[in-house]
Amino acid sequence: MAEKILVVGGGGREHAIIKALKKSPDCGEIWCAPGNGGISYDAKCKNIKSTDVDTMVGFAVEEKFDYVVVAQDDPLALGMVDALAAVGIPAFGPDKAAARIEASKVFSKDLMKKYGIPTAKYETFDDPEKVMDYIKAEGKYPVVIKADGLALGKGVLICKSTREAEEVVKHTMCDHAFGKSGDRVVIEEFLEGPEVSVLAFTDGKTVRPMATSQDHKRALEGDKGPNTGGMGVYSPVPIVTDEEHATMVKVMEQTIAELAAEGIDYRGCLYGGFMLTPAGPKVLEFNARFGDPETQVVLPRLKNDLVEVMLACANCELDQIELDWRDEWAVAVVLTSAGYPGSYEKGKVITGIADAEAMENVTVYHAGTAVVDGQLVTNGGRVLAVTALGDTFENARNLAYEACEKIDFEGKTLRHDIGLRALRGRDAWDA
Ligand code: AMP
Ligand code: GLY
Repeated sequence: MAEKILVVGGGGREHAIIKALKKSPDCGEIWCAPGNGGISYDAKCKNIKSTDVDTMVGFAVEEKFDYVVVAQDDPLALGMVDALAAVGIPAFGPDKAAARIEASKVFSKDLMKKYGIPTAKYETFDDPEKVMDYIKAEGKYPVVIKADGLALGKGVLICKSTREAEEVVKHTMCDHAFGKSGDRVVIEEFLEGPEVSVLAFTDGKTVRPMATSQDHKRALEGDKGPNTGGMGVYSPVPIVTDEEHATMVKVMEQTIAELAAEGIDYRGCLYGGFMLTPAGPKVLEFNARFGDPETQVVLPRLKNDLVEVMLACANCELDQIELDWRDEWAVAVVLTSAGYPGSYEKGKVITGIADAEAMENVTVYHAGTAVVDGQLVTNGGRVLAVTALGDTFENARNLAYEACEKIDFEGKTLRHDIGLRALRGRDAWDA
């Protein structure tokens, strides 16, 4: 039983977690900090920045929360779970040492190298001149340059020429575009193939992988344009072979075991970002949290009681739980503000959400929304994720797009090709 739960964050992922938690008979009062406009219809919201660890922990003590779900990368990297433990409040999410798997690319790449986890070849540098010497000597393009630390999803840059690489190195290491996160960089070989996300619950010993999902990171149709936080997603991923699936699950289990061998007790959700290369699945990144928007298609398919699963992760009792999935497919389309991931306007009135949600098997998750003078308005780049469940992939996809048509706001932008490649099969990636 968790009488009173606090979810830290304020995006579509947190909205999906809250809606799933609320289905549990064990979920009492639910709060979100800072939350957003749409979340305020489902949970009490408290406007505390998710990176303000002291204020958040103080609030958790004052309100006597039984359990806190730390859903975002920054508070995890800052040690919010450790700070909550210090005041006796159990939390879902890895502690500061374990969260380095996402917060430091160097840490996670070195771990993968040490234990032979399949990943792109790489070298680490903290001297901009040495980076360029290495890139020129290798002479292989495209080359991938990654800032070591957290960079709001913008720290990975793919360069097609020496000139581009020079610009990126200057921007990242000399101009400090990502602050200290770019003081060290990882230079990686460029991999190609479909990407798949595998999220897993873990209590540090047992690993329970969730259903596969596939994000669409690029802003424009045909997987063109700059990387975004994610423009759409579906679950499960039909193009994954049984062999690939088994390899990815093994990697997730192996990673938790290796962290344990390093003295790191990882509890919470581990996110494995994989690329299905001709040589088998390789890890692109690990994240220390649920994916956004992956959560918006994975949790609606989970049949288990999420409160029970999350408590089992914190209490080291996950071996007593098997995950159970709905047979339906889930597709989510993200509606963004015009201009995203560049600059965009806020404060546009949103209409039609009630009509979309009146459709059977449709749920609208809020990301960048706010309630101003009683009206729901846009308040971010990614505004909403519209999720539909269907008995076939195509039905789920069609329903999601039908629901998107009911919603409107000035500048509403979406990709119309979410899931289209998967519908065409694996060959669509070889084209
Ligand atoms: P990351 O944050 O490391 O997952 O990188 C963000 C995105 O950049 C990934 O989802 C991929 O689309 C792309 N990416 C990262 N590493 C590589 C790589 N080695 N080769 C090709 N694309 C990559
Ligand atoms: N969907 C990518 C991420 O959550 O990092």
